[in-house]
Amino acid sequence: STTPVKVAVTGAAGQIGYSLLFRIASGSLFGPDTPVELRLLEITPALKALEGVVMELDDCAFPTLAKVEIGDDAEKVFDGVNHALLVGARPRGPGMERGDLLEANGGIFAPQGKALNKVAADDIRVTVTGNPANTNALIAMSNAPDIPQERFSALTRLDHNRAISQLAAKTGAAVTEITHMTIWGNHSATQYPDLFHAEVGGRNAAELVNDEAWLADTYIPTVAKRGAAIIDARGASSAASAASATVDHARDWALGTPDGDWVSMSVRSDGSYGVPEGLISSFPVTTSGGDWQIVQGLEINDFSRARIDASVKELEEEREAVRGLGLLG
Ligand code: NAI
Repeated sequence: STTPVKVAVTGAAGQIGYSLLFRIASGSLFGPDTPVELRLLEITPALKALEGVVMELDDCAFPTLAKVEIGDDAEKVFDGVNHALLVGARPRGPGMERGDLLEANGGIFAPQGKALNKVAADDIRVTVTGNPANTNALIAMSNAPDIPQERFSALTRLDHNRAISQLAAKTGAAVTEITHMTIWGNHSATQYPDLFHAEVGGRNAAELVNDEAWLADTYIPTVAKRGAAIIDARGASSAASAASATVDHARDWALGTPDGDWVSMSVRSDGSYGVPEGLISSFPVTTSGGDWQIVQGLEINDFSRARIDASVKELEEEREAVRGLGLLG
């Protein structure tokens, strides 16, 4: 197709934006034959820095980059977009309580949801990377009543990729041999990477590892706290890996998951696996033709049940908090 796909990125002058834009522009998202038009949203004080990033995009002379537009008005930037990658968010500042964080982000994601509702293309698909990603996605979805709710998602693909990488390191397998990985719940420290359905070269990962203490005390915390470990080492939060995961997520959603495997995406629960309907929670999903489906029929043992329930409880508390703040449209 020669019609460019219009991709909006918010927080485009930020750390993740600096990796993400170049991946999208170079064709990593939709392949070498699909031109893309970038629509970049920032807050007014960051527009000058964003102009510098656009100069660099120009200087790459990417064959797949058809056009770049920037601005600080969501209704202009989101006009006619097919994909919206909502990366820009308010980080937790010193002394900020969780309620303050949810409120500050509600002030970003409620208006962005309304703007998408008003001006985005009919086939819009929304991915929220900015934290708290699941609840920010819930806020955007709730403020966009005319967009089908299944078009909203939040990023747990970085957690999924980390879970694959850590399992590969433990077993000596290549990452390509690891399939059927699942992150359940919230993109937070309560997330649950599930090895009871994951496979290594076709063998059940939990059986292969056969070490529940390692699973509980090493594997799960290492995956869940990887973000903090990166901040500790790098002095800045994960950015290139978050950008890469955002590309993986949006690409698989648009182009489909591989036959016989699934990915982790945070999507609106239909009540599957006891996750209350309407929460944006991470599930094993397959995608095809731009639509996702939650993988059904997986057996959940007691070990998994307790951890999924704990993460989902946190999502419910976040939902109650933002509902109390009047942010759910
Ligand atoms: P950053 O602080 O470098 O960049 C954020 C950018 O968003 C800034 O340029 C800021 O001006 C912009 N921004 C703020 N409010 C905005 C608004 N209303 N509209 C448009 N732009 C706005 O942060 P970084 O490192 O790029 O991370 C972005 C977000 O992604 C953070 O919330 C971070 O916690 C989250 N994150 C999520 C991950 C995930 O796996 N879901 C992984 C890593 C980061």
